[in-house]
Amino acid sequence: TAAEKGGYEHFMAKEIMEQPKAVRDTISPRIKDGRIVLDNITLTADQLKTFRKIFIVACGSAYHVGMVAKYVLEKMTRIPVEVDVASEFRYREPIIDEKVLVLVISQSGETADTLAAMREAKRLGARTLSIVNVVGSSIANESDDVIYTWAGPEIAVATTKAYSTQLAVVYLLAIYMADLLGCLTAEEYAAYLTELQALPDKIEKILQNRENIQYLASQHFNAKDVFFIGRNLDYAMSLEGSLKLKEISYIHSDAYAAGELKHGTISLVEDGTLVIALATHQNLFDKMMSNVKEVKARGAVVLGMTTENNTQIEQVTDHVFYIPQTCDVMLPSLTVIPLQLFAYYVASMKGCDIDKPRNLAKSVTVE
Ligand code: G6P
Repeated sequence: TAAEKGGYEHFMAKEIMEQPKAVRDTISPRIKDGRIVLDNITLTADQLKTFRKIFIVACGSAYHVGMVAKYVLEKMTRIPVEVDVASEFRYREPIIDEKVLVLVISQSGETADTLAAMREAKRLGARTLSIVNVVGSSIANESDDVIYTWAGPEIAVATTKAYSTQLAVVYLLAIYMADLLGCLTAEEYAAYLTELQALPDKIEKILQNRENIQYLASQHFNAKDVFFIGRNLDYAMSLEGSLKLKEISYIHSDAYAAGELKHGTISLVEDGTLVIALATHQNLFDKMMSNVKEVKARGAVVLGMTTENNTQIEQVTDHVFYIPQTCDVMLPSLTVIPLQLFAYYVASMKGCDIDKPRNLAKSVTVE
């Protein structure tokens, strides 16, 4: 009903707008006196030091959170991380023993493949830690430890606030683990917490700017194919941006690591092809600009996204969307917001059934 949608036309819009609160609710209770406190976590510092590897298993958008988590956890803890879609992990005889931590990410806590992958990992002796939204769900109950995302109920099939809160938990966990492993100075620890706590307000700021995205969507909702490109964490974000767009607007889209373009994908770019170029990382900005020039030279129309200081992007792209600055690892929390909004507005302008896209289910309980 209209009341349940809080005055919005769709649950997805309501849930997009709830993200500052959802992220704040997920982070705030876990920070006490300048320290991350993960209540109920039984994993000890000594156990943590024994892990030779972390595997992440998940499906769909939760898998995309896993892609971000791989970059973040490796960078901050220096433990090697592998990330798999759950339905692949199970059937490839993963090399698992007691020296492995398996991180399971799931909004519902009931996705059949994810649950089965976790059970298989446990059987092989791994320690399991899950990031789940639904309290008391199977994955939450059966994992050795669980950290809940306090997103509240998510109704729209296309996930938004669950994704954002999963990312927030990944940051909490990465900082927590890096600290236990002695990888952070006190200053670095404090700086990460400051950035983490500033995310909800920055997300709010992007949401206030949503008419900009609505305008860009109005210019491009008739696109036949859309390509998302990015490097490093922006590649992980390209995957999520592309999934959001295709699942609710039915526009064909794909995500590519920008450096791979010249190995084949660029043959798909022709006059008028829409390319969404994510260039939020300062150290990769120039590399991204050369990729943008490559697709522009083949006739692409390019929407760029970068952080507020990088105005030189305007010289190479057709339109730009700016996000606030934060530390590199946390940029995904901001990058995802315009991507969600773009998918939403495009689907809305096409008149799609946004909250219940064809052929899709909120929770997939078949294998
Ligand atoms: C379905 C949903 C996706 C979700 C995926 C995993 O495909 O439509 O939005 O990312 O399942 O669901 P989970 O509940 O495990 O996060």
